[in-house]
Amino acid sequence: MSKIKIEVQNITKIFGEKPQEALAKVKAGMGKQELLEQHTHTLGLHNISLNIEEGEIFVIMGLSGSGKSTLIRHFNRLIDPSDGHIIIDGEDVMEMDVKQLEDFRRRKISMVFQSFGLMPHYTVVDNVAYALEVRGVKKAERIAKATEWLETVGLAGYENLYPRQLSGGQQQRVGLARALAADTDVILMDEAFSALDPLIRSQMQEQLLELQNRLQKTIVFITHDLSEALRIGSRIAILKDGELSQIGTPEEILLNPSDDYVREFVKEVNRASVLTVEAIMRKPRLCLENETHQEALTKIEAVGIEWGWVLTNNRYQGMVTRAQLKKAIAENSQETLAQLANNSVVVTQSTTVEGALPSAIGNKYPLPVVDQNGKLWGVVTPDSLTRAIEKETDEVSS
Ligand SMILES: Nc1ncnc2c1ncn2[C@@H]1O[C@H](COP(=O)(O)OP(=O)(O)OP(=O)(O)O)[C@@H](O)[C@H]1O
Ligand SMILES: [Mg+2]
Repeated sequence: MSKIKIEVQNITKIFGEKPQEALAKVKAGMGKQELLEQHTHTLGLHNISLNIEEGEIFVIMGLSGSGKSTLIRHFNRLIDPSDGHIIIDGEDVMEMDVKQLEDFRRRKISMVFQSFGLMPHYTVVDNVAYALEVRGVKKAERIAKATEWLETVGLAGYENLYPRQLSGGQQQRVGLARALAADTDVILMDEAFSALDPLIRSQMQEQLLELQNRLQKTIVFITHDLSEALRIGSRIAILKDGELSQIGTPEEILLNPSDDYVREFVKEVNRASVLTVEAIMRKPRLCLENETHQEALTKIEAVGIEWGWVLTNNRYQGMVTRAQLKKAIAENSQETLAQLANNSVVVTQSTTVEGALPSAIGNKYPLPVVDQNGKLWGVVTPDSLTRAIEKETDEVSS
């Protein structure tokens, strides 16, 4: 079990003149619409509780106005809750004094804003280096670091321009470089990729995943695009009108949307391009390692199947069929099982259904799911792959 980095405990946020009076009404059961119409207060968030684990990319999604920005602005206390607590690394952010809060924002949590939030009178490189400047890092060092991050986000050569001389997408990448340069444990990203065109956006998603592999930050990422959420999120929370509709892994959201609101989002995505074989694989029926040909054949026949999966020191070698074993026995072959095994095409756990399909089509054998170390995690049958896609077609047509 990973460590919990951010705990959101029963957060309610009401915007308006007298939030505490409005809070009492909400606690007595008044809804968002009624509160707005009768009391001109906006219920931004209503009793939200969730935990974000260290090292995960936690995605928050929902339609415009559902409370996404409001929620993450509580994390660095740009917004104070009307009720509830935010605990980060065991510390209640509301208990911090001015000095502690300043330090916390400099060292522990950085943010990429929806509206970029760059300083217009600073050059691009100085914008990126700013977080290091306030921490007292020497000029040469901070410029070197900032230049490196700008290169990472594809903006080498833009160092000495001003934000207004950049396109929206480029400014957004400066915002990202700035958050990464700050090297905080937590990065909040509010629609950080929405201003990017699809190709660049997809590259940035890829890059974020790569960086995350390397850096293991805790990233809270807001988007209203479910495909993006599914691609990069370890877990996804879906907000509707300030309430939590569902929280789960991409697979859980895709396979079991909790209500019509979530189902509407799910309808829009191409499941085959998101669902990975890990979600549909099953355990191999029979693994063979040190058996003789005859022993292997006996096991295959006992289970009543046509093939077995061959491992050596727990590493996947290939598959042997009943027919191959019979032939080897008849010919008194001295080959080991591993030598005998067919080296079939393999997929990894993160291969999508769409990606696995070409290798599976026309193949009567399942595809082995093997990781980089050669460990066999499971197998996926051509059937289960087509079923995963058909289910999608059914849902769209129904
Ligand atoms: N400063 C504010 N004053 C009054 N109401 C606010 C304020 N900030 C947000 N709200 C209200 O709180 C609700 C949630 O807004 P929020 O900005 O969190 O939505 P969002 O999910 O981030 O939307 P978007 O996708 O458009 O950015 C909305 O009803 C909004 O009108
Ligand atoms: Mg927002």
